[in-house]
Amino acid sequence: MDVFFVGCLSFFILHFLNISVSAHAPNGTELRASSPPRGWNSYDSFCWTISEEEFLESAEIVSQRLKTYGYEYVVVDYLWYRKKVPGAYVDSLGYDVIDDWGRMMPDPGRWPSSAGGRGFTEVASKVHNMGLKFGIHVMAGISTQAVNANTLILDRNTGSAYVKGGRQWRAHDIALKDRACAWMTHGFMSVNTNLEAGKAFLRSLYEQYAEWGIDFVKHDCVFGDDLNLDEITYVSDVLQKLHRPILYSLSPGTSVTPAMAQKVSGLANMYRITGDDWDNWADVIAHFDVSRDMAAMGMIGANSWSGNSWPDLDMLPLGWLTNQGSNEGPHRSSRLSFSEQRTQMTLWGIAKSPLMFGGDLRKLDNTTFNLITKSELLAINTYSTNNKEFPHVTGSTAVKEKSLSGRLRGLPEDAREPDIEVLGMTSCEDPKTKSWSVNVMDQSVERICWEPEGKGSKGQPLCLYKRKHLLTSDEQTILHRGKLQLSASSSMDICLDVAQKRKLTAREFTRGRFSRCRVETNQMWELNSNGSLVNSYAGQCATVRKINTNAIPGGIRSWVATGRKGEIYLAFFNLDSQKTTISAQVADIGEVLGKDLRDATCRYFELWNDLDLGTVTQTISYTVEFHDAALFVLYC
Ligand SMILES: *[C@@H]1O[C@H](CO)[C@@H](O)[C@H](O)[C@H]1NC(C)=O
Ligand SMILES: *[C@@H]1O[C@H](CO)[C@@H](O)[C@H](O)[C@H]1NC(C)=O
Ligand SMILES: *[C@@H]1O[C@H](CO)[C@@H](O)[C@H](O)[C@H]1NC(C)=O
Repeated sequence: MDVFFVGCLSFFILHFLNISVSAHAPNGTELRASSPPRGWNSYDSFCWTISEEEFLESAEIVSQRLKTYGYEYVVVDYLWYRKKVPGAYVDSLGYDVIDDWGRMMPDPGRWPSSAGGRGFTEVASKVHNMGLKFGIHVMAGISTQAVNANTLILDRNTGSAYVKGGRQWRAHDIALKDRACAWMTHGFMSVNTNLEAGKAFLRSLYEQYAEWGIDFVKHDCVFGDDLNLDEITYVSDVLQKLHRPILYSLSPGTSVTPAMAQKVSGLANMYRITGDDWDNWADVIAHFDVSRDMAAMGMIGANSWSGNSWPDLDMLPLGWLTNQGSNEGPHRSSRLSFSEQRTQMTLWGIAKSPLMFGGDLRKLDNTTFNLITKSELLAINTYSTNNKEFPHVTGSTAVKEKSLSGRLRGLPEDAREPDIEVLGMTSCEDPKTKSWSVNVMDQSVERICWEPEGKGSKGQPLCLYKRKHLLTSDEQTILHRGKLQLSASSSMDICLDVAQKRKLTAREFTRGRFSRCRVETNQMWELNSNGSLVNSYAGQCATVRKINTNAIPGGIRSWVATGRKGEIYLAFFNLDSQKTTISAQVADIGEVLGKDLRDATCRYFELWNDLDLGTVTQTISYTVEFHDAALFVLYC
C-alpha cells in the first residue's frame, strides 16, 4: 500500500567526512579510469536474459563500430547465473546456478562456454581478443539460494573450507537475513563483514572474477538507499590487492547526496547518482540538479585509490530496447524524442559521466550511432575540465506570458493546489533531520512528530505512530534493541519503510513509503538524541519537505567547461515545453571559468548543427526547441 509520500532530495550538505586514501597506482598498470569509462551494458536492451551468443555478437559490433570512439567496456548486467526457464524472473528464488562454495556461476544454458565450472574465462578471452574489456554485474552479499543450501565458505589461503575456532563456517554464519536487498528481496542479502568468514566469502568471489579475466565489476545494491559502506570498503580493498586492474562501479544511486559520494569516491571508479535511468523525459531531467551538486562539490574525476572516480548518470537507453524488469529481450524503440535524446547525450557528455550505451547494437540505427559518436562531445567528455552548471542564463519565449495568463485567468490565488508535505530520506548529517520528537497523546499512544520550527509551533505537525513490534526470536531482539516501527495511524497495520520491491528510476528518488508491518530492518527506525530519525537498513535519516504540486520541473539550464586547448564549451538546455531563446553573457562565462572575457571577441560554433555563428563580444543568444539542447564551442 502506497500512501501519499513522495520524493525529496536534499542538496545542502554542511560537512563532509574526510577520507584519506593512498593514491598509489596498481602494480604494472596505468591509473584506472583517468577519464570517464565508456562502453556498452546489456541491461537496457536485454534486461537479464542475454545469452553468450547475443553478448559476443554485441561485443563484436562494439569492437567494429564503437571502439574507435572510446567505447571499450562490454558489460553483462544482472542475473547471468539465472536459468532462463518458466518461473524464473528478476526476483524469483531457486533458479540460480551456484557452486559448492555458494558463488554465482554463469548459467550454462545461456553461457555454454561456462560448462564444467569454467565461469566467464572463455567469454573474457574472446572479448580481449576483440581489443575490448569485459565487465560483469554482481549483487551485494550472498544469494538466498546459497544461504538456503547453507554452503561452506572457500578459504582462498588454504583452498579448502574456511575453518576458525575448530569448526567449518557456513553461509548461515555470515548471512544477515534481515538485510535482504530492498529491491530483490528473494535474491540476495548482505553478509557480515565484521566476521573473518564474511570477508573470506567476499574475497572468494572477487578473486575468482579476476581469475576469469574480468576488467570491470558493477556492484549493485550497495549504494544510494542501499548504502553498505562496509562491503564497498572491503571489496575495494580486495580489488586493490589483485594484480589485475578491475574498474569498480557502484549502484544504484537513489537518494545519493554529495556527502554520500564523498564516502565512496576514494574507493571506487564510478558510482551512480540517481535511480535507474529509463527512456522517459522525467528520468532525463531528474539528472540535472544532482549533476550540478556533484560538480559543485568537486566530485567529477575526484582522486580514487587507483586513479579517478566519476559520478555516473547511468546507461543511455537509446535505440532498440526492452522494458525494466522484463523477461524479454529488445523489442521496442526508445520513447525519447530526438531532442530529448540529444539533451541526454549533451548533459552526460559535459558532466563527464561514464557513457555506457544501452541499446541493442545489432539494430544500431544511424541516428543513434551519430548521437553516441558525436566527436566533439566525446572530446568534451574525455578531456574537458572545470565542468559545471552555469547559472547565469536567461530565457525568453514569445508565447509564455499569454499561455500562462490564459491558464490562470479567473482562478483566485487560493484555488490553486496547496503545498503538500512529502517524506524522504537524506544524510543524517543534514541538520534539518533533527526535527523529530516524541509527542505523547495519552498513555496508550505515542507519536513521533516532525516539527522543524520547534515543539508546539503553529499548525498540525506531521506525526507517525510508534508501534510495538513483535520480535519472534532472540536474534531479532538483539538486532533490533532500541529500534521502533512507525505506523501511519494508530489503527492501521502499515509501517514506514525505505524499500520498494523493484529498482527505482531516476525521477523516483526516494523510498519513504508504507507497507504491511513486518520485522525487517528496512522498517526499523531509531530516534537519535539529537532528534534525527535513522533507518536501520539505509543508514539515512527521515526528512519532510513541502513541495508545490504545481511546480512543473522545467526551466532552462546551462553548463560550461574548458577544453584541452583553452577553448570554451557551453551547453544550453531547454527543459521547458516551449521553444525558448536562451541568452548568456560572455563576461559571465569567463568569470565562472576564471578567465577575464570582459573585452573579448569570441568566434563561436554550434556543434550539433555544425553552424559557424561568427563572432560575439557580449551576449550569446540562441533559440532552442522544447526539450532540446545546443552545444557551442567558443574561441576567445
Ligand atoms: C609488482 O610486480 C612485479 C613483477 O610482477 C613484482 O616483482 C613486484 O613485487 C610487484 N610489486 C608489488 C608492490 O606488488
Ligand atoms: C547509415 O550510414 C551509412 C554510412 O554512412 C550509410 O552507408 C547507410 O546508407 C546509412 N543508412 C541509412 C538507413 O541511412
Ligand atoms: C545526530 O546524531 C546521530 C547519531 O549520533 C549522528 O550520526 C548524526 O550525524 C547527528 N546529526 C546531526 C545533524 O547532528
